[in-house]
Amino acid sequence: MGRNLARNFARNGYTVAVHNRTAARTHELVEEFGDEGDFIATESAEDFVAALERPRRLVVMVKAGEATDAVIAEFTSLLEPGDVIIDGGNAHFADTRRRERELREQGVHFVGTGVSGGEEGALNGPSIMPGGSKESYDSLGPILEKISAKAKDGAPCVTHIGPDGAGHFVKMTHNGIEYADMQLIGEAYQLLRDVAGYSPVQIADIFRVWNTGRLESYLIEITAEVLSHVDAATGNPFVDVVLDQAEQKGTGRWTVQVALDLGVPVSGIAEAVFARSVSGHAALRDASRHLAGPTARKPGEDEAATFADQVEQALYASKIVAYTQGFHEIAAGSEQYDWNIDLGKVAAIWRGGCIIRAAFLDRITSAYEAQPQMPSLLSDKSFAEEIAAAQNDWRTVIATAATQGVPTPAFAAALAYYDSLRAERLPAALTQGQRDYFGAHTYHRIDRVGTFHTIWGGDRTEVES
Ligand code: 6PG
Repeated sequence: MGRNLARNFARNGYTVAVHNRTAARTHELVEEFGDEGDFIATESAEDFVAALERPRRLVVMVKAGEATDAVIAEFTSLLEPGDVIIDGGNAHFADTRRRERELREQGVHFVGTGVSGGEEGALNGPSIMPGGSKESYDSLGPILEKISAKAKDGAPCVTHIGPDGAGHFVKMTHNGIEYADMQLIGEAYQLLRDVAGYSPVQIADIFRVWNTGRLESYLIEITAEVLSHVDAATGNPFVDVVLDQAEQKGTGRWTVQVALDLGVPVSGIAEAVFARSVSGHAALRDASRHLAGPTARKPGEDEAATFADQVEQALYASKIVAYTQGFHEIAAGSEQYDWNIDLGKVAAIWRGGCIIRAAFLDRITSAYEAQPQMPSLLSDKSFAEEIAAAQNDWRTVIATAATQGVPTPAFAAALAYYDSLRAERLPAALTQGQRDYFGAHTYHRIDRVGTFHTIWGGDRTEVES
């Protein structure tokens, strides 16, 4: 990814000094792509730093974690106040906060930057989420705007997210939403296959049609490509020859861990992370040999087509919930760390370049522009109306999945979240009673101010504490 980002800078007219731990890699890059722009190959940290104009701007693209600290340690002594280190890896925002604080003491700006779009995006225009000081963005902004993806209206997909770890926090949450989006698409696929009885190629066609409507997005588009791909070695659908155990590098897990600390219910994202864990537990899944389930029922052609339309509704409604949860987490992080993140702008810079780019992000931007302080995306009238229109089909799909024994953890979590928000009363009152019963943990009443406890072991009188 680092080399593609370097090529992107060079293609946009910037002179790029390149340094790798292994000098041969630098020379390879310059030999192979030297005609794309101006590269300066350097072999030592000193030569690299000497080649940069002031204030120096160093983009670090290494594996997140110790490697980042090692690079910082190597270069800091060579830098001067005002220089900028940009970390474009998927770092944990808490590490970014620490690094920013430490480097600030030396007058060096540390810009933890989310970069989304994979190898292709790095080369042709990623979505960029820089954190760090306002001052650093003044010098970086114009460059990042040039190399970033452009949304359909031509706007660059980059904005100054906020101080210190804000950029990496937003990138982490982007990835959490990415996990949810992918899991929801996976569940839709499995329903179309196991309940409706469609083949992978037929499902690819269904996704292609969906991609012309409100679900239009990069992930839907590539899903159709993956599903229609045939394995050259066996002649079978590619999706049938790949081991069904999903890997994860960790950003989805962080999104959930951080949400737990902030007390933000990101149940759809959490189910997506757990679904990957379940898939990888070969020993647990050995239970498939002896656990009973319902017998599948083959639908007729019309019934299958109707069901596919219902799955589209369920997918769209669940997707709105996944984004609602992700944006809630960003809002909570922003408040906790005083980042003042503009949620509408975050949605706007995700419209191009990144993995979760999708047509409906425009609408999220408009919703937050109209009501920047709204407590949830579901407070937006137009999203609430769309979910209201989808809800019957959404419920039918989840009920059908349960009846036919097809796992849909993310669809179901999304619906449960929606129903929790709309419930007038939740069983939390009973939970409070139980807590008070076994632990004298007290409770509040709906009709009087104060903190109360019932003497459960005695005459059950209520005392105010
Ligand atoms: C992106 C991707 C990118 C990457 C992640 C997720 O925005 O370009 O999110 O950061 O694909 O590493 O990978 P895992 O699925 O392995 O966690």
